[in-house]
Amino acid sequence: RLKIILDTDPGGDDIFALLWILSLVKQGFMELVAVTTAQGNVNANVTFECASQVLGLTGFAQIEIGKGVIFTSAEIEDAAYIHGVDGMGGLAATLPAGKHKYSTAPTSDDLIIEKLNAEPGEITLIAIAPLTNLAAAETKSPGILKKAKEIIIMGGAFRVSGNVTSHAEFNIGFNAEAAKVVFNSRNDIVILPLDITSQLIFTPEMAKDVSQVNPQNPIAKFILELNNFLTESSLNYRQTEGIKGFLVHDAATIAYLCYPETLLLQRARVEVETQGTFTNGQTIFDDRHYPKTNPNAWVSLQVDEANLLASLVEDLKVLILGE
Ligand code: BDR
Ligand code: CA
Repeated sequence: RLKIILDTDPGGDDIFALLWILSLVKQGFMELVAVTTAQGNVNANVTFECASQVLGLTGFAQIEIGKGVIFTSAEIEDAAYIHGVDGMGGLAATLPAGKHKYSTAPTSDDLIIEKLNAEPGEITLIAIAPLTNLAAAETKSPGILKKAKEIIIMGGAFRVSGNVTSHAEFNIGFNAEAAKVVFNSRNDIVILPLDITSQLIFTPEMAKDVSQVNPQNPIAKFILELNNFLTESSLNYRQTEGIKGFLVHDAATIAYLCYPETLLLQRARVEVETQGTFTNGQTIFDDRHYPKTNPNAWVSLQVDEANLLASLVEDLKVLILGE
């Protein structure tokens, strides 16, 4: 069983990534050791509460949650204008309050350090938020990120434009200095950039397909409503180029682990621009096969999106099926 820490900034598509992991936990393929929340899509205290509510709704309230350090990006605003201040367009008020307490929770960086030290080489870190927590852990405890079995990141944009500036993708641009720390922490980081995640359109038909397996199930209802909201806001902010649906960027990380046949990876040196006047947060990619390039990453630029999305749909069905 794969042991996972999920570093995340829910709501938005992060919730779908979390639900996918929980289905795989239910099926016995994964163990979710902790969820570490980060400031990103919305404020750190909101991402914490959102994760807590989703874990409560799905029957996983016992899983530990870390709280994000407050990091306000100088250049990029958060995405509350897309996701609503609760990260899920007002749906938080319809869910039971989370059982975790922000005031007494450990910080995400401390929780990452604690878990990786407890089981060196055993835990895979999935990072689907700005990299503030991972960088803070590495700065506090140099070498700690090498103790993860693998680090899998949704972030960056290589041969496509960014989504927050012309050059920067949100997770990298929001805290480019943090991304730099993480990219330099080891030589085998897995990066799933916008190049592929901008093809992962989850449609209202897929949400219906999932929910009809058990329409009265509260998770099924939540998936349908969240889909409605995210589809609507994607339309308003022109995220999916005219196709009805929303982008499940963060789900690519789970596909890498459990459905690797849906992704093609190539070896490269990846750097992040932290000094550029116009290019801050840009990810730069050197895939020349030459020893001097000193590769630090595996980057995916090709995805079988139909198969990836079909796997997500099937696993979400398992999550909402009765025992
Ligand atoms: C990334 O930014 C966030 O808004 C999404 O959740 C995803 O992690 C996409 O650029
Ligand atoms: Ca995210």
